Order: sequence, then structure tokens, then C-alpha cells
Amino acid sequence: MDFFEDIDKQNLPAHIAIIMDGNGRWAKERGKHRVFGHENGVHAVRSTVENCVKIGVDYLTLYTFSTENWKRPKLEVDTLMKLLVSSLKKELETFIKNNVKLNAIGDIESLPKKANHELKEVIEKTRGHTGMTLTLALSYGSREEIKNAVKQISAKVKNNIISIESIDETIINTHLYTHNLPDVDLLIRTSGEHRISNFLLWQIAYAELYFVDVFWPDFTEQYLAQAIKSYQNRERRFGKTSEQLN
Ligand code: IPE
Ligand code: IPE
Ligand code: MG
Repeated sequence: MDFFEDIDKQNLPAHIAIIMDGNGRWAKERGKHRVFGHENGVHAVRSTVENCVKIGVDYLTLYTFSTENWKRPKLEVDTLMKLLVSSLKKELETFIKNNVKLNAIGDIESLPKKANHELKEVIEKTRGHTGMTLTLALSYGSREEIKNAVKQISAKVKNNIISIESIDETIINTHLYTHNLPDVDLLIRTSGEHRISNFLLWQIAYAELYFVDVFWPDFTEQYLAQAIKSYQNRERRFGKTSEQLN
């Protein structure tokens, strides 16, 4: 069965962001340790990347590790970082085959050396790709991102590089980690939680939100298709009235 068959190609979300949640509970349901859930979440990442390419999505951003996730038990953090390294090594081939360009947002200098190095290497190797941009949010926190932008802009004002009056949304955008990405059109969160958890607060101002009640390792093409179809049935008014849109 082709779940993507009745997706309208003329009305695709250009930028999909996903909060990949529920790995721990998925493992617990099976009587396993949380890290078993993370290991199984990797399959869902690969299939989602490939399916977004197939559908024709331009930007896919995945919440992979938050600034708050550093507070988790050391074993879990270490396993996640190891998984990141092994997945990057393995998926380079997938990125090449699918013309995917890898990008990262977050405080990537705070990642362990190996993870930081592997990440930069794959970004470099896929730099020339012209297909979908896949952004991994790693050690990412939206409040930290905004705080950093405020600091950089303040320094420019102090040094007379820009004036206070010139600060507008474009200037703020250019100081965010996401400066080279468009606003999010569709934000998906798995696991049944209805919250944003410090993800892209500025960039989701007018995103359509979609919450789905499956844990991340079970997020298959069927759910991705459902999310996109739900998006396509919504009227995005951006503050205007329905009549004004027509
Ligand atoms: C999401 O799954 C993965 C990360 C946050 C790294 P969780 O690990 O949060 O799984 P739950 O939400 O505890 O089930
Ligand atoms: C958000 O999930 C972070 C990622 C998916 C990487 P969390 O599981 O950390 O969020 P909370 O703690 O339930 O809000
Ligand atoms: Mg969680």
C-alpha cells in the first residue's frame, strides 16, 4: 500500500520538524533498558529521512538531543553519543544515495570529541548535495539559542556595527542557529506528549502542530503520511481572515 499516493505535491510542508519522543517508554513496554529504545529509534530516523526525500520535502529537522538531556544518567547520555557516531558513519551512504545535505543546530562544541568530529566530517562530505537539508538538533535548546542571539546582537550594537533601530526580525533570524533554514511549516511530536520542550520556539511561530500517539521507534511511513495529510487539510491564515486568503 502506498501511503503517499494521495499527498498533494503542490501543497507540501517545505520544512518539517520532528520531536522524536518515546524511545524510553517503548523499551520499558518490552521489559528492556531505555537504551534499547534509542537503538531502535535509529531505524525510524532512517526511514523518515528516506520517506521525506521520496515525498519531496526540502527541509527536515530532527530533535535529537536537548540541552536538558545532559541531565540524564551518564550511561544513557554515553549510549546516545555512541549511537550518534555509529549512525553518522552508517548513514553517510544513505545521504549520498539520496543527495541529502547534513546540517546541525545547537551547541555542537559541547558534544564529545568523537561525535563532534564525525558530525563535522559528514557535514563536510555532504556540503555539495542539493537535495533535502537534514538538520540534527544536538545539544539544542531554544532558550539558549535566543540568549546567544541577544548577546551577539548586543555586542554589535555596543561596537557600533548596527544601531538599535535597525534590529528587526531578519536580524534576529540571522543570529539564530537556524539562520539558513526557513520557518517550520509542520511540527510533529511522537509519544503522546503535548509539549514543545524547548524546541525552535521562535521558528514555530506559525507552524502547524501535529501530535501522534505512537512511540518514536514505531513511527512509520503511515504516520508520516497522516501528519502531512492533516497539514494539507488545514487553512493557514497567518492572522488574516478566510475570505482574504481567496
Ligand atoms: C526521545 O525518547 C529520545 C531523546 C530524548 C534523546 P525519550 O528518551 O525521551 O523516551 P521517553 O520519552 O522517556 O519515553
Ligand atoms: C525532547 O524530549 C527532546 C528530544 C526528543 C531530543 P524529552 O523527552 O527530553 O522532553 P520532555 O522532558 O518529556 O519534555
Ligand atoms: Mg521523552
